[in-house]
Amino acid sequence: MSSTPSTEPIIHAANLTRIYPLGDGSVVGISQVNLDVAPGELVVLKGNSGSGKSTLLSLLAGLDRPTSGDLSVAGNNLSNSHRLDLTRFRREVVGMVFQSFNLLPTLNVLENVSLPALLADKDAEATRGKALELLDWLGLKNRRDHHPGQLSGGEMQRTAIARALINDPALILADEPTGNLDSRNGMMVIDLLGQLNRAFKRTVVIATHSDLADSLATRHIRIRDGALTDPSCDG
Ligand SMILES: Nc1ncnc2c1ncn2[C@@H]1O[C@H](COP(=O)(O)OP(=O)(O)O)[C@@H](O)[C@H]1O
Ligand SMILES: [Mg+2]
Repeated sequence: MSSTPSTEPIIHAANLTRIYPLGDGSVVGISQVNLDVAPGELVVLKGNSGSGKSTLLSLLAGLDRPTSGDLSVAGNNLSNSHRLDLTRFRREVVGMVFQSFNLLPTLNVLENVSLPALLADKDAEATRGKALELLDWLGLKNRRDHHPGQLSGGEMQRTAIARALINDPALILADEPTGNLDSRNGMMVIDLLGQLNRAFKRTVVIATHSDLADSLATRHIRIRDGALTDPSCDG
């Protein structure tokens, strides 16, 4: 059995840049970002609205392609992604949680959670068992037959977390996961992401402008106008 050296970063970005063409001009999403994240970190990425947080997370998730620079995530080269099965990467390597939950309204909780596994051709019975286990852990077992419209915001976000975990992703990306939640539910979601990091050794990146996740972070990163800034210089 071969073992990966623990020094290998799970995220490696070098001069990573995403420029959005807009009319005759262009808008900088992120510019010249250099970032290495080791497995097992919980990174809190902070910056004002429009600073580039979602742009960076979309690139890490394989939802968008860089304009230039290098990016590799869990050994997958995303700067040269025509060689990569991006659908498989998005489904099995990363788990993404969004501010707006992004659940399918016509599917119930159990079906929403199971979908990424079924799309990845996983065994249906095993998937059901795993989904129920996740829902149990997230306090949602009695909600499994409900549709998203019948849930509170906190329950929707916990459903989205279960969905993000169903394929055992190496990396969990959360883009403003508490942005639509009250502080109690926001704290619950952040606590769960913290448990995933500490108890289950998952690498987690949380983009946020709230302070809820600060105490759980193993690493703080600041972004401003598309560029990472040194947090120690940022009074
Ligand atoms: N699809 C897009 N087309 C054009 N500009 C975009 C697009 N997405 C983001 N931007 C711009 O890129 C910059 C960074 O945006 P974003 O990554 O969404 O920031 P944040 O998530 O920190 O609010 C902003 O100036 C934003 O307007
Ligand atoms: Mg954003």
